[in-house]
Amino acid sequence: MPVVRADHLYKVFGRQSKVAVERLADGSHRDTIADLDVTAAVIDVSFEVQPGEIFVVMGLSGSGKSTLIRMLNGLLDSTAGSVEIDGVDITTLSQKNLLKLRGEKISMVFQHFALLPHRTVLENAAYGLELRGLPRAERFAKAKETLALVGLEGWEDKLPEQLSGGMQQRVGLARALAADTDIILMDEAFSALDPLIRRDMQTQLLELQATLGKTIIFITHDLNEAMRLGDRICVLRDGRVAQIGEASEILNAPANEYVERFVEDVDRSRVLTAAEALADAAVDADAPQVSSDTLVADLYTSVSTSDRLRVVSAEGDVLGMVTRESVLASLVRDENEEAAK
Ligand SMILES: Nc1ncnc2c1ncn2[C@@H]1O[C@H](COP(=O)(O)OP(=O)(O)OP(=O)(O)O)[C@@H](O)[C@H]1O
Ligand SMILES: [Mg+2]
Repeated sequence: MPVVRADHLYKVFGRQSKVAVERLADGSHRDTIADLDVTAAVIDVSFEVQPGEIFVVMGLSGSGKSTLIRMLNGLLDSTAGSVEIDGVDITTLSQKNLLKLRGEKISMVFQHFALLPHRTVLENAAYGLELRGLPRAERFAKAKETLALVGLEGWEDKLPEQLSGGMQQRVGLARALAADTDIILMDEAFSALDPLIRRDMQTQLLELQATLGKTIIFITHDLNEAMRLGDRICVLRDGRVAQIGEASEILNAPANEYVERFVEDVDRSRVLTAAEALADAAVDADAPQVSSDTLVADLYTSVSTSDRLRVVSAEGDVLGMVTRESVLASLVRDENEEAAK
């Protein structure tokens, strides 16, 4: 069962929102319903997020990302459509039950950290648990544990202003982890950070995720970040879904010209892995082996010293071979493959 499910979800701001939904459902672009004096932020969005998945929602400014994520935890009502969390339609819940569900199942990490300035790092990390009424000793113990997970051991007694941006965002992440919810929503959580720190945070999130197995919905306007983090990516355009797929699908088979233009500048070698660069060649049991999730960028040097590598998955299955030619070929999108779809 999916953990999060959006079904024909709409959010239209303005008095004539219901009329607007009818016209949008007939396929109207949001700009052609300007006469209704409404803003259509999210239009007919449907997807399912599976347990343990990192689902990235990517789109330009104004494409509806924040509106969408705020409907997923019930901070905003939907104009039409439904949101299910663990099979429960939250659009039908009373305010009290919605608050309860949110406290138990969903945490959120924001772009601007949203830390309380006069509280210590430890108190900030424990804040979600305080709201839930956990006794002091218990919530501090839990917060101390998750601060250590994000590398902030020893910083518990500092104030947020004594920390760098990257460290403050780690506190935000620790707070979400301390709440111990299955679902974490992250809205542009790394967008305010310097590029190098941002990359570190991405790495740390992936490492944490490998052991914690949360269900994460991560919002970004950065395609490279989307490709790096997302098990699947949902590309939003003007409130509608332009495409949903794995990074390699979006790169190799963009659903339309919009997505195609978007992916033009992506460094394919940093998205595609050995598993997606396989050669049409018989398996050579004597060739050196390489893990299937090795980035193509990191295969360059290995295939130039020994020109064939055996690709092995994390489960130990031999997937095939990569060669110098197949590695180079993976960097060019195969137009035929796309046409065949
Ligand atoms: N409360 C509101 N009332 C009216 N219009 C709104 C409201 N909230 C958002 N909008 C509009 O809905 C559209 C989508 O906004 P949203 O904030 O969801 O975009 P976004 O993709 O998160 O953008 P950004 O990348 O800049 O954060 C925008 O046109 C915005 O102006
Ligand atoms: Mg936003």
